[in-house]
Amino acid sequence: MVAARDRPARFDRSADVLIRPAEPADAEAITALLEAAFGPTRYKRTAALLRRGALPIEGPSLVASEDDGLLGSVQFWPIALVAGEIVLSLTLLGPLAVAMPGLGIGRALLAASLGVADRIGLGPILLIGDHSYYGPFGFAAEATGGWGLPGPVERERLLLRERRPLAWPVVAQVVAADSASAATATMLATDG
Ligand SMILES: CC(C)(COP(=O)(O)OP(=O)(O)OC[C@H]1O[C@@H](n2cnc3c(N)ncnc32)[C@H](O)[C@@H]1OP(=O)(O)O)[C@@H](O)C(=O)NCCC(=O)NCCS
Repeated sequence: MVAARDRPARFDRSADVLIRPAEPADAEAITALLEAAFGPTRYKRTAALLRRGALPIEGPSLVASEDDGLLGSVQFWPIALVAGEIVLSLTLLGPLAVAMPGLGIGRALLAASLGVADRIGLGPILLIGDHSYYGPFGFAAEATGGWGLPGPVERERLLLRERRPLAWPVVAQVVAADSASAATATMLATDG
């Protein structure tokens, strides 16, 4: 059986579709794409709470574009995992969204962005999504069962991708990067 990520992309207009790094000039079109995909309440989603105050990580954050405009976007963000006094850096993947579902653009964006992430040594990547879609790209829920989030999540949808198996804390809190900075600063203040 051919793994999902190895299937050829099925772009209708493959010659015209370009997967490239997201640029500041794409911001408006990305917002419009995400509004269309997730609706106006997207800022209240648990993943959105984790992105609070952060900027997308340049490199793996990619868009699919063609002459007529943006066809897809995937973004990566710095977040953290806090377990007691231990603060670990993680990367959040998402949102991934396309303008025309079912053409292979989503998988092509995922494959390309994870390729960049691996090349630059981004480390463990977390996302909230369907295992049937993300599993073939190395995402699994095994390590995350005891991890808390700032909002609701279905346990089987909190997926982690790690290139080398790590000894993860069983109980931990996934937080926005700025919350982790605050926790670390508090720890330093207490220690000092
Ligand atoms: C999810 C999404 C990005 C997939 O992109 P896409 O370009 O349609 O995906 P592809 O064409 O690469 O792959 C299509 C395949 O994925 C499957 N698929 C799509 N969304 C899926 C999901 N949420 N769960 C499981 N499988 C899914 C399709 O059934 C199809 O399967 P097939 O190849 O066996 O026919 C796109 O549907 C989308 O933008 N959805 C709205 C936003 C969203 O929910 N994003 C994901 C959460 S961050």
